[in-house]
Amino acid sequence: MWTLTFPPELITLLLRTSNLVALTGAGVSQESGLRTFRDAQDGLWKQYKPEDLASPQAFARDPKLVWDWYAWRREAVKAVRPNPGHYALVEIAKRVPNFTLITQNVDGLHQLAAQTLKVFETFRVLELHGNIQRVRCSECYTFTETWDDDTESVPRCEVCGGLLRPDVVWFGEALPRDQLEAAVEAARSCEVFFSIGTSGVVQPAASLAYAARNRGATLIEINAEPTPLTLKANYFFQGKSGEILPELVEAVWGA
Ligand code: OAD
Repeated sequence: MWTLTFPPELITLLLRTSNLVALTGAGVSQESGLRTFRDAQDGLWKQYKPEDLASPQAFARDPKLVWDWYAWRREAVKAVRPNPGHYALVEIAKRVPNFTLITQNVDGLHQLAAQTLKVFETFRVLELHGNIQRVRCSECYTFTETWDDDTESVPRCEVCGGLLRPDVVWFGEALPRDQLEAAVEAARSCEVFFSIGTSGVVQPAASLAYAARNRGATLIEINAEPTPLTLKANYFFQGKSGEILPELVEAVWGA
């Protein structure tokens, strides 16, 4: 098998660091079998761009279409498992005292990896774009645990009768304030910032990496392709996060 060589000074830095942030995007879940946002969609949904379905305007125009797309994505997420990249991030969290994972992914696979490895307290996940498995009222914000996907129209809230929707952030919507504030704070105080499997073009998530780098943190990028962030990165590793992250953990901590 092909093995990466990591610079010795990077290994020393990671061994010593006590404050590390990792920002992840759809690329991290790609090896679990989930398509990224920039990939073409499959089957039934081929004719739509995610941007045309993930917006309040799309929901207002055709709520059932948007609901069905999310119902289909929820099923896709339920059918997949975390990959070695997700597990490697949990291994890093076990070894670095102050570890924060900031994700743009709504699939919950980071948390599932941590649960599988029985790591709870040390694995802090900030979800910037929500979670596809949570459903709430589009009007009164009440969360619901049960609903029926097989109805003619979008299920309604038991409290106010409003339409139910996934608890995710759509284009044009504000990010959850508590998650964003905690992410900004983590990016401000970290020594090492990883940007992994994200195209780095969607704000404000993308700006976190720049903020950390400008403040003097070491910026490490792992991506299948160069991105706008690559020129700013102290280290760029091109390839699959599910291969590079486990190799990095092995090289640094020998685990
Ligand atoms: P994108 O789909 O924009 O980008 C995925 C990135 O992952 C690309 O840069 C790929 O090169 C990289 N990639 C693909 N496979 C990879 C692998 N196996 N290992 C490492 N890298 C890989 O996804 P995001 O950057 O997450 O927002 O997108 C950010 C946000 O834009 C999403 O959360 C979503 C989207 O529109 C909302 O829904 C609000």
